Amino acid sequence: MNIGVPGLTAYAGLFEVAKAKKGEYVFVSAASGAVGQIVGQLAKIAGCYVVGSAGSDQKVNLLKTELGFDDAFNYKKEDDLSAALKRCFPEGIDVYFDNVGGATLEAVLRRMRPRGRVAVCGQVSQYNLERPDGVDLFQLVGKHIRMEGFLVSEYAGDYYRRFEEEMARHLREGKVVCVEDVVEGIDAAPAALVGLFAGRNVGKQVVAVTRESEN
Ligand SMILES: NC(=O)c1ccc[n+]([C@@H]2O[C@H](COP(=O)([O-])OP(=O)(O)OC[C@H]3O[C@@H](n4cnc5c(N)ncnc54)[C@H](OP(=O)(O)O)[C@@H]3O)[C@@H](O)[C@H]2O)c1
Repeated sequence: MNIGVPGLTAYAGLFEVAKAKKGEYVFVSAASGAVGQIVGQLAKIAGCYVVGSAGSDQKVNLLKTELGFDDAFNYKKEDDLSAALKRCFPEGIDVYFDNVGGATLEAVLRRMRPRGRVAVCGQVSQYNLERPDGVDLFQLVGKHIRMEGFLVSEYAGDYYRRFEEEMARHLREGKVVCVEDVVEGIDAAPAALVGLFAGRNVGKQVVAVTRESEN
């Protein structure tokens, strides 16, 4: 048996990068390949619910029988990848082990649950294209780049107070300046808003509706 490098790729990607945990929903693309098949089996041992995609009915059958995946689909026979993922993951995906990139990745991202993790292992669907058909995420692989979404609203409370203290100090000491682009009056607001998308603002766009001295 020659599990070697693909096995290590599967193990590290699943547990170190994606941090898959018991009870989570895991999706694996190119699931019957050297890496994908091990990912699926390790995820099952860890107590995850695992679905794989592959490019033939024979491979799908292998995933569902010998390899013990909970479910699998033939992506070449699915007209709508998003619908296939919704069918397999009605509650969404926690972990995506991405071997293929492209259209599959895009559909998966829409199905991911909050705090989901994507281990970008490979982008095989993009390798032989003259230009990648979307964002060139293969850059993430070779450089071990971590990409993570965030919402500022998660940083309210104590974190905000820490930020406020530190930023007030920087502003007082002149280490940070805040450039503002001020337009006067509410009538100027629509043009200012449209201007944001044409890059007309320099710094933070502010609409001065009224001045304190005018009150
Ligand atoms: N990050 C790392 O350190 C590392 C290490 C090893 C491998 N990798 C990457 O991991 C991925 C899987 O490697 P592997 O060794 O498991 O591959 P593999 O055994 O060679 O299997 C590749 C499979 O990819 C699928 N595929 C090919 N073209 C595709 C396309 N256009 N769209 C969707 N699927 C396609 C095919 O299966 P279907 O019939 O299912 O389409 C093919 O059997 C590759 O992207 C590879 O570059 C990364």
